[in-house]
Amino acid sequence: MTTLSGLKKQESGLFDVYPRFDVTPARAEGVYVFDQNEKKYLDLYGGHGVISIGHSHPEYIAQISHQLKQIGFYSNSVMMPIQEEFAEKLTALSGYTDHQLFFCNSGAEANENGLKLASFHTGKTKVIAFKGSFHGRTAAALNVTDNSRLSAPINKNNFDVVFLELNDEAALAEALKNKDVCAVIVEGIQGVGGLDAPSDDFLSFVSQACKEHEALLILDEVQSGYGRTGRFFAHQHANVSADIICMAKGMGNGFPIGGVLIAPHINATPGMLGTTFGGNHLACAAGIAVLDTLKKESLIENVAHVSDFLISELKTITSIKEIKGRGLMLGVEFDYPVKELRSKLLYDFQIFTGGSANPNLLRILPPLNITIEEITPFVQALKKVLK
Ligand SMILES: Cc1ncc(COP(=O)(O)O)c(C=O)c1O
Repeated sequence: MTTLSGLKKQESGLFDVYPRFDVTPARAEGVYVFDQNEKKYLDLYGGHGVISIGHSHPEYIAQISHQLKQIGFYSNSVMMPIQEEFAEKLTALSGYTDHQLFFCNSGAEANENGLKLASFHTGKTKVIAFKGSFHGRTAAALNVTDNSRLSAPINKNNFDVVFLELNDEAALAEALKNKDVCAVIVEGIQGVGGLDAPSDDFLSFVSQACKEHEALLILDEVQSGYGRTGRFFAHQHANVSADIICMAKGMGNGFPIGGVLIAPHINATPGMLGTTFGGNHLACAAGIAVLDTLKKESLIENVAHVSDFLISELKTITSIKEIKGRGLMLGVEFDYPVKELRSKLLYDFQIFTGGSANPNLLRILPPLNITIEEITPFVQALKKVLK
C-alpha cells in the first residue's frame, strides 16, 4: 500500500518502524541507484550520508573481495596489522596524527564509547549537549539527543544532561562554571536536526572553555566527517582540535563500521572499551579502500568544487529561503514543507533527496565523487518544479 505522501506502508514480516519510498534498488554504481527494472535514480541522499566514494567503487570491491578470500573475521584478541594500517592512514589523512583509534560498528556506538571515555577520564557524569542534536539511539547517545520521543521509559533515569542553544557562549560558560561536566558533545553540522551548525568562533570558544573547566570536547562527526564538508572533519574549518572524535557513516561507504579518535592525554586501560565485531578484517578492508580512494581521487577537493557550483546555482532560485551547511552536506530551506517536493523529485525526476527534523528543508548528501555534470539535473529539476 502506498500512502498519499508516496511513502510505502510495510505489509510484511518486518517490524514496521520505517516509512519507505516505493523504490526497490537492485544495484548501484557511482552516484546512481537502479531499480529492478533498471530505472536509474540520482542518489543525492547517499543512503543517509553513508556513500562517500560512490556506490560499488571498483577499488572498494577489489579490496573487500581480496580480504574476504584471506580472512573475513577474527576477534580483537589477536594481532591485526590491518587495524594498524587503517589507523595510520586515517590519522595521516585527517591530520589527527597524535590521536589513537578505537573501532566499533555504528555512529551511536561511537558516541556511546566517546561519552563513556570522557566519564572514565574525568571521573565526572554531567554532559552538555545542544538543542536540535541527534547522536544515536543507544542509551548514552540517546540521552544527549534532543528528542524525547525517541526515549523509552527505561531511558528516562540516565546521567544529567543540559541542552543549550547552539552558539550561545554565555550559556555554555554558565553551564561549565561548577567544573562538574565531563564532556561537551556537538555535531560538526547537525544532520538529522536540520543543518544548523556551531559557528567557527563558537567552536573555538567551546574548545577553550572545555580546557579551562576540565571537560572533554567530543565532536560527533558521524555525518559531517570523512570529507563531506570539504575538510576531513567539519570542525577543522574552525581550526580547533577535539579530544574525542566520533565517526561512522562515510567511513565504510556502506560497510558498517564506526570509530573513535582519542587524544593522547586520555589513557587506555585493558578492558575499558570493547566490541566483538568492531575493527574486523573485512570492515578494515572496506575502510582502507575508502581512505585510499578519498586520497587518490582527491575527493575532498572535489567536494569544495562541486559545492561551489551547486550553491551558486541554488542561489539563483528565488523561492529558496536559505542554504545551510557546507560542502556536500547541504540543507535547502523553503518557506513551506518539502514533503511533496521530495516525492516529486523522486517519482517524476528520479532524484533521491533527504529530509530532516525541519519539515521545510531538503537535505543533500551525495556521494563525494559526484561531478558538476551529474548534479546539474537536480538544479534543472528544482527550477522546473519551482517555476
Ligand atoms: C550526527 C549523528 N550521530 C550519530 C548518528 C547515529 O548513527 P547510527 O545510525 O550509525 O547509529 C547519526 C545518524 O544519523 C548522526 O547523524
